[in-house]
Amino acid sequence: MLRDLQLRNFRCFEAIAAEFSLGFNFIVGANGQGKTTLLEAACVLLRLQSQRAATLAPAVRAGERSFVVAGHVEGHLLQFYYSSLRRKVAFDGVEQRDLAEYLQLARVVSFANNDLDLIRGAAEPRRRYLDFIGSQVDPRYRPALRAYERALRVRNALLKSPHPRPRELAAYSEPLVTAGRSLGEMRAALVRRLGPTAERAHHAIGQGEVLALAYVPGNEEDFGAQLERVQAEDARLHLTTVGPHRDDLRLQVRGLPAAQFASEGQQRTAALALKLAQAQLFAEETEAAPLLLIDDIFGELDASRRNALLAALPNESQKLVTATSLDWREAGSDGPVLKLADGEIRRRNG
Ligand SMILES: Nc1ncnc2c1ncn2[C@@H]1O[C@H](COP(=O)(O)OP(=O)(O)OP(=O)(O)O)[C@@H](O)[C@H]1O
Ligand SMILES: [Mg+2]
Repeated sequence: MLRDLQLRNFRCFEAIAAEFSLGFNFIVGANGQGKTTLLEAACVLLRLQSQRAATLAPAVRAGERSFVVAGHVEGHLLQFYYSSLRRKVAFDGVEQRDLAEYLQLARVVSFANNDLDLIRGAAEPRRRYLDFIGSQVDPRYRPALRAYERALRVRNALLKSPHPRPRELAAYSEPLVTAGRSLGEMRAALVRRLGPTAERAHHAIGQGEVLALAYVPGNEEDFGAQLERVQAEDARLHLTTVGPHRDDLRLQVRGLPAAQFASEGQQRTAALALKLAQAQLFAEETEAAPLLLIDDIFGELDASRRNALLAALPNESQKLVTATSLDWREAGSDGPVLKLADGEIRRRNG
């Protein structure tokens, strides 16, 4: 469990500290008071990445150059310093070069209203969903993803030059194929494991509708041969047209593509099911239940879906729940309330 959290120059906060309990913790405040920011800081501390943004640069407080987040997790002190030039990570006061030990301590699932983008939007948020899960369950995932992204950047840069030479292109394709293959295999395995869990979760909150997940690779089985075949086309378009950066996660409700055919409510349910599946996968795969960051969604759900969701959340998980008000709160979700106003937190136990 995350016992406490300290922020310095993180988004709207110059300096703030919070303490959390097991089970439910409610963070309440008006719009723009920093509720999402507090959840983000917890995610950044535990996973060294944000659940809301692709990069950490926007989290540095305006006018500052760096931020620090720190806190105790499972009795260990975690500290993370970030600036555009340098990142420093410490575990129990000792600076870490290898992040494996640090990152294996805790897992995070984020529930937020923009989870709907997973259903409605382009493929990018679905790939990010898979990547966020993959890097939390498999220590090889993050390095493979980074290696692939690097190789892709290099190949694309070469393709942007006026006359890329085929021989040079072929040489740069090799690392792309190696990293791309292992990334593709890991994503496919992940979807195979997530599928049944997501279907069950959807069933539990979706009144019997069937949600089906399928991995759609952005390249053919023989990625290397395909890259060679499309090389002239890539040179003409100045970009790499095939590979895991074009992967997708196909979602169907009742056998039809969820983005075009599912109703608003069905899409919301499917988005929740994907996140619940993530939480259940973590709960099954690892000793410690994941930290759940639940941003603004309980207030938005109707009572029946809210209760179904509450019942489906892993019991053992610690939960940080934000809301502008707690009117909706019913029995079964007791916990301390942290009131956020004017850059300060006031805690009320209850
Ligand atoms: N890098 C930054 N520097 C300074 N302030 C920032 C930075 N990034 C965001 N903010 C400000 O932080 C404040 C808190 O944002 P946050 O999204 O956490 O609010 P919130 O309480 O979740 O609001 P809502 O209820 O509308 O979701 C906002 O006023 C925002 O403008
Ligand atoms: Mg918010």
